[in-house]
Amino acid sequence: MTRFANRKRELDRFEQMLRGQVRERILLVEAPSGYGKTGLMGRFDEILCSQGIHPVLIDLKGAQAGIAFVFSRIQRVLGKKRFPNFNAHIHRFLNSGVEIQNNRLTGEGSQIQVILEVPPEERKYRLTQLQQVFFEDLERFDRPIAFILDTYNGATEELAGWIESPFLAEVALNPNLFAIVAGQIIPQPTIEWQNLHHRCKLDRIMEREAWYGYVKDVGFDCFRSQEEIDVLIDAVGGVPSQVVALLEGAARTRQQI
Ligand SMILES: Nc1ncnc2c1ncn2[C@@H]1O[C@H](COP(=O)(O)OP(=O)(O)OP(=O)(O)O)[C@@H](O)[C@H]1O
Ligand SMILES: [Mg+2]
Repeated sequence: MTRFANRKRELDRFEQMLRGQVRERILLVEAPSGYGKTGLMGRFDEILCSQGIHPVLIDLKGAQAGIAFVFSRIQRVLGKKRFPNFNAHIHRFLNSGVEIQNNRLTGEGSQIQVILEVPPEERKYRLTQLQQVFFEDLERFDRPIAFILDTYNGATEELAGWIESPFLAEVALNPNLFAIVAGQIIPQPTIEWQNLHHRCKLDRIMEREAWYGYVKDVGFDCFRSQEEIDVLIDAVGGVPSQVVALLEGAARTRQQI
């Protein structure tokens, strides 16, 4: 299991959501850099696997992560064969020949990218068609699916807008879908989400016990007293990445003595 200090409130909320104890199925996790969003997504991933829910983790940062990449990544994780209607649509577009402007693209989602390489109006039309069949294929899955979309702040403007709506609007429509979106910024709820979202803001971790537990889990046995750990927490005001850096630094220095 991933070693992680605290975040109990968010983990509890997440488990309630999976068990259907709360209505919401869209979880938004907002925090500055280094507060542990990506680490928390890793914990969510482990929980999903243990509960028989398909996790689909996607990091939205990076130039390649356009809409085509997201479709393709979801297909790769869940199995391309399970998207018969979507695949049939792709083939129909590709075989219609004349509309394809650029067939030199490579990389994940390149076929879909080629289909979308058309003027804006036509692109919009094709995208609407593709997403419709894509989500229809998703309806036929036997198990629930949870999309974990990390680093929302790193998505291109077009991708960020697409996630906000229609992607999350489609998630809201299907009771077997969950979405977790994490970022330094998060999408703005729209009416189409049907109020199925919950927003968490990760705080600094000032609780001493949380860090004592972390130190024990990681196996840093070089601290002679808890006060030594308190000093480090206070020095960086409980910013998780900085507390961890100080703890690791102290452990390294002491082991060399
Ligand atoms: N709750 C925590 N327990 C233990 N370590 C943590 C915790 N939160 C953060 N960290 C440490 O901080 C580092 C940075 O965390 P992480 O990458 O999850 O931050 P982030 O919020 O995703 O930042 P960014 O916005 O830059 O992506 C991690 O490598 C980890 O060592
Ligand atoms: Mg991150």
